[in-house]
Amino acid sequence: MTSKLGRVLTAREILSLVSGDLEKVEAELRLESVGSVDAVSQIAQYLQGNGGKRLRPMLLLVACRLFQEPSIQAIQLGAVVELIHTATLVHDDVIDEADTRRGKPSANILWGNHTSVLAGDWLYMQAFQIALRQRRFEVLELLITLTQQMVDGELLQLERIGKLEVTEADSMELIDRKTASLFSACTKLGAIAGGADEREQTLLGEFGWNLGMAFQMVDDILDFTSREAVLGKPVGNDLREGKLTLPLIYALETASAEERAQVDSVLRTRAYDETPFSEILRIVNRHGGIERTRRRADEFTGKARTLLEVFPESAAQRALLAATDLVADRDR
Ligand code: IPE
Ligand code: IPE
Ligand code: MG
Ligand code: MG
Repeated sequence: MTSKLGRVLTAREILSLVSGDLEKVEAELRLESVGSVDAVSQIAQYLQGNGGKRLRPMLLLVACRLFQEPSIQAIQLGAVVELIHTATLVHDDVIDEADTRRGKPSANILWGNHTSVLAGDWLYMQAFQIALRQRRFEVLELLITLTQQMVDGELLQLERIGKLEVTEADSMELIDRKTASLFSACTKLGAIAGGADEREQTLLGEFGWNLGMAFQMVDDILDFTSREAVLGKPVGNDLREGKLTLPLIYALETASAEERAQVDSVLRTRAYDETPFSEILRIVNRHGGIERTRRRADEFTGKARTLLEVFPESAAQRALLAATDLVADRDR
């Protein structure tokens, strides 16, 4: 286990390695977030201005640095993955009828669903425009496959909304599509931009995939254990949106009929009026749902770390190792 202090230092180590690169990504994002219609520019700039961890470009750039200093193309790919991420968030918030994102009212609340959907489409296409300039078919193919996987993930999630009978395997499939696919694309793109060979690209892609799986599991844990002020989005939200995530899926395996009924009442009513959130949290804890999800997430970060062993020790390799701690121990 890394100590609190150790973790802060390693997180700083990652940042210091790519902070200059990330500033360039920010400049690129500002430059590329201007459309010919005001609403598009406003939504793009609003979301970027409200923060976000920029984890995806960060991973891409650190992966690139394993092989060489990021070129302008690598910086642009950093902007591409963040734009794709932003587009998915705008669409996700419309679908989830969310009211908060990054601690502020979400785009659908301020601009409405119709404008937000179109702005999300615009953001996707802007990401592809930037990528297209590189004239690399393998990059475009990867990004298109990725985007389809993420949309598949959201569609699968929609099909399962409100259902109590969701298995661990169902949940893993969903996490793979909606989150791990993008993390995997980021680290693979970093390797491609760094001139890595095919074996190295595959390894980095697998590293990102494992990290992404853990990242979403931690997201699902934080939905139960965090506070809105820290998270920038409400807690207890997944169940209220009709989504059964791993902590509850595990808890339900040993829950009583009465406890199942309580969970089902929130799924049906989409509110915590009949069963308060605190009661749901007690059920999850009573059956060890959080710990089991945490152990599962740790398995994925452990696998991610193993994949890095073939690379010689370097600042970038240490930073990627530190990124696994950052994901596992994050609080927002
Ligand atoms: C949110 O991702 C969407 C998930 C995959 C859970 P982040 O937690 O990385 O969001 P930002 O970019 O930091 O706001
Ligand atoms: C992950 O889904 C977001 C995307 C992949 C778009 P969630 O619905 O869990 O994300 P949050 O919790 O709204 O950030
Ligand atoms: Mg959502
Ligand atoms: Mg979530």
